[in-house]
Amino acid sequence: MAHMALYRKYRPKTFSEVVGQKVVVESLKNQIAAGKIGHAFLFTGTRGTGKTSCAKIFAKAINCQHNHNGEPCLQCDVCKGIENESVYDVTEMDAASNNSVEDIRDILSEVMYLPVMAKYKVYIIDEVHMLSTAAFNALLKTLEEPPAHVVFILATTELHKVPATILSRCQRYDFNKLSIEEIGEALMYIADCEDIELSQSAARTIASLADGAMRDAASILDTCLSRGNVINDDIVADVAGISKQEEILNLADCMIKKDLPSALQEILLLEQRSVDIKRLCEELITHFRNLLLANLPKSTYQLLNVSPEKFEKIKIQAETTNHVFIQTALSAFTTAFESISKGQNAKISLDIAIYTLCNTQVVPVSVVPASQEQRPAAPAPKQQAAPQSQQEKIIPFAQWLNTIDIVGTVDKPLYSLLKGSKAYLYNNIVYIDGHEALNNYLRGNREAASIVKQAIQQACGKMHNIGGYKNIADKFEQPKSDGLEDILSLRNSGVEVNIND
Ligand SMILES: Nc1ncnc2c1ncn2[C@@H]1O[C@H](COP(=O)(O)OP(=O)(O)OP(=O)(O)O)[C@@H](O)[C@H]1O
Ligand SMILES: [Mg+2]
Ligand SMILES: [Zn+2]
Repeated sequence: MAHMALYRKYRPKTFSEVVGQKVVVESLKNQIAAGKIGHAFLFTGTRGTGKTSCAKIFAKAINCQHNHNGEPCLQCDVCKGIENESVYDVTEMDAASNNSVEDIRDILSEVMYLPVMAKYKVYIIDEVHMLSTAAFNALLKTLEEPPAHVVFILATTELHKVPATILSRCQRYDFNKLSIEEIGEALMYIADCEDIELSQSAARTIASLADGAMRDAASILDTCLSRGNVINDDIVADVAGISKQEEILNLADCMIKKDLPSALQEILLLEQRSVDIKRLCEELITHFRNLLLANLPKSTYQLLNVSPEKFEKIKIQAETTNHVFIQTALSAFTTAFESISKGQNAKISLDIAIYTLCNTQVVPVSVVPASQEQRPAAPAPKQQAAPQSQQEKIIPFAQWLNTIDIVGTVDKPLYSLLKGSKAYLYNNIVYIDGHEALNNYLRGNREAASIVKQAIQQACGKMHNIGGYKNIADKFEQPKSDGLEDILSLRNSGVEVNIND
């Protein structure tokens, strides 16, 4: 027998088999049990979360001859007939491929006739947002005065494309993304029925890959089956093109040891397996967060939400590093992840993060709260690393206007906050002198800070961290007499400098 896709085989047949969606399922069941059934429903939410499945269960349940507490019996002629599509009273239409006004008129031309076998004529219109305007108008007419024996169930992933006139005539049900726990559990159940040896951890990995959609989870499990009936984390990683536990540990190890060549070698290997770089950034963030947690005095594997074996490995690695490095890593990979999300080149963003971490001289500092008097401690001793930096002078940051313009191309609100601000370069950090609102915004919004950093990098070709101007303001108030030249050059570039002469 040909293999039937797991997601089809495990389509829920009763409300009790539906994973998650408690609110939706409960209120549908209550309605049926109370015998008060609306005439138009709208099921909306992410793809693969149970909309079509629930529409079908609902169609059976309201027509079932032995309905029990809102659940269909699946045994009676009606239930069976709907299941094998021999009952014509339930019509399913895919608006993605039948979206014209004629298509809608076709099905609406029969709404007046009483159902043949069932109690209600049920019209399930999937992907309803795809209907043409004329088709929506035709549908609207029927929704305004539906015959008592007709029930419409409209399903859509794109609620905003459904006209308000239609929405206002439907009871709306929101289908949420399923949690990792919910999906993981459902996968373990499927594995059990199918004689698949699926590890708990592999189930969780698949669940997180599926991003809330049960259909995707079942499909990934299906793909893994091509490798046999024993499925562990490594197989999922291979099949899905994500990194493996060992690879993440090795990569982190290289960075902790500041071994850039080996780190790049690891990345190369991952790339050859077509690992998704954005996902890798997320995994590295999770990993460094785990290292941070593992270093806490009373840390447990439950706290990290990993297996005991994985916890041991993480703990060993955690002891080889410190929280300053971990925080630097977290901020570097967060920045990389954000840049990739904004469409920057993934490989370059990741490389920048790795270069930064493997280079002892450059220590990224996240936005410095302006209220904080001294700069946060940098692990690299300044005198040793860069002796000249002690005498480094404060200079206006020459590329600031350019930077602001670049920000303008990606983030308009941030651009208007930055407009009119000034910036100074000191010890490799760009200190921004702007409105209080700007300071607050940058302090509370990592994403905005990261946009500014990216823009600085684009403008001057070099990575700089940013800080609040107040941190260096005092350096301006005590100009040394031999600093006159500097002061004049600052003045020339439009910087206000107080000198009492
Ligand atoms: N909540 C759920 N519980 C159990 N299985 C589910 C659930 N959601 C989806 N599935 C699985 O995914 C498959 C597809 O589900 P369904 O067609 O109901 O999703 P949908 O929300 O209509 O998706 P789409 O928006 O893509 O049409 C089902 O056959 C089933 O295997
Ligand atoms: Mg569907
Ligand atoms: Zn029945």
